[in-house]
Amino acid sequence: MKFELIEKKVADIDADIEIVLVVDKNFEHKWVKDRDDLETINFKGESEEVALLPHQKRVYVGAKSLDHDEIRIAAAKAIKALQNKKYKSAKVGVYIQNCPVTNIKAFVEGALFGAYRFDKYKSKKQESELQTIYIAKEDYSDKEFTTQNAIKSINEAIIVAEATNFVKDLVNTAPDDMTPKDLADIAEQIAKDEGLEYTILDEKELAKEGMNAFLAVARASAHPPRLIHLAYKPKNAKAKIAIVGKGLTYDSGGLSLKPSEYMVTMKSDKSGACAVLGIIQAAKRLQIPVEIHAIAGATENMIGGDAYKPDDVLVAKNGKTIEVRNTDAEGRLVLADCLCYAQEKIDIDYIFDIATLTGACVVALGEYTTGVMGFNEELKTTIIEAAQASGELAAQLPFNRYLPKLLESKVADICNISSSRYGGAITAALFLSEFIEEKNRQKWIHLDIAGPAYVEKEWGYHSYGAGGAGVRMVVKWLQKQFVFNKKHP
Ligand code: BES
Ligand code: ZN
Ligand code: ZN
Repeated sequence: MKFELIEKKVADIDADIEIVLVVDKNFEHKWVKDRDDLETINFKGESEEVALLPHQKRVYVGAKSLDHDEIRIAAAKAIKALQNKKYKSAKVGVYIQNCPVTNIKAFVEGALFGAYRFDKYKSKKQESELQTIYIAKEDYSDKEFTTQNAIKSINEAIIVAEATNFVKDLVNTAPDDMTPKDLADIAEQIAKDEGLEYTILDEKELAKEGMNAFLAVARASAHPPRLIHLAYKPKNAKAKIAIVGKGLTYDSGGLSLKPSEYMVTMKSDKSGACAVLGIIQAAKRLQIPVEIHAIAGATENMIGGDAYKPDDVLVAKNGKTIEVRNTDAEGRLVLADCLCYAQEKIDIDYIFDIATLTGACVVALGEYTTGVMGFNEELKTTIIEAAQASGELAAQLPFNRYLPKLLESKVADICNISSSRYGGAITAALFLSEFIEEKNRQKWIHLDIAGPAYVEKEWGYHSYGAGGAGVRMVVKWLQKQFVFNKKHP
């Protein structure tokens, strides 16, 4: 799907159909030309409500306000209503609330998310006829905006939405078609396409690096592990950041085997790794002036005669010993070594990790919200604000002085699970914090995306399955910190 800014009023553009957002419930806006018809079919203009009027060549979609997320949802619903129809082109005006950039971006993102389909495994693929969306240089409230800003917004939205949809494709792919090696091959291809540096470590090289916690998780799998490291090094870099992703291409739970109904969807346990690939791709395309290292630990967590066991003691890359009491708490073991690797190799200003780490995070926040944890209050706040501005949902889960005690082990330096059944998202983060060097504690953020990474029902502008969680919020954070001036939302 292409987007074109046309320097005309909506009415003067030639297209197969017009998209109209109904913000005013009295249908009094000049773009709402079919008031009688809408009343006849009892269209109320509620959020997510759509009315396609083929004879009038207009599709109406309700929106509660001009808030950017309302615009995303409305755009997605409109595009969905036009899919599988014969329309090749559509036209739409611009719906500015405060900032033209934000809302034009939101419309284009929403449209691309609405158009997203994962049909890799369907024998019959439905090709969409809709090719082009013309965006008129006319605002709903007659607000002024420059052509340059509008085009910039459209281009940015395309970069971010394409990266997010690409991440969804990777996550949605079946585990046998997306093994650690497959993921590493894709990462290498991204590096080549985007002109990034890349290093891929195989199991022998992981052993040389002393990444024994990671290797223990990987041991029972027929598909050997990979550490993926891509680097984007712009000349004008204002900071260095490492973003580490959990890449469990399948999590069966290992010997602490998951019950079957919890095992389904565990192809999505690679979502953090896929997100870091999407982030570095988008950051490069947006030319964000930050040196970015995308690091992913890719492996399966399987069972077998060679599997690591509850009672094993592992020695992580930084020499800390870990008592394994549950092999299903494997993500933190992989991340522990990857976090050590990142801190050893890179002189970082920031270190983020993104992981589908705990079911407890989903219990705490619900399935749509990312959990944000770390020691730096201001950093957490900026991330949550960036998430909100990007259309993602994120909330803080707070550390306290009592929770770390729950990870104490009688036999090793630390235990891989908490002795309490409560607060599991936070204790998982506290486990990771043991692998953050003292000097880096204020630079670290942990994002638990176990909820929004994969949802088995449609929500808002999200389709069934992978959600691409983490991509938009981190890209927005990078832009807010290093690109936008303070006035920009
Ligand atoms: N990958 C899971 C976490 C998860 C659960 C992600 C549901 C997405 C949806 C993780 O490896 C895991 O199994 N965690 C355990 C930890 C427990 C053993 C302490 C969990 O959450 O139950
Ligand atoms: Zn697990
Ligand atoms: Zn897992």
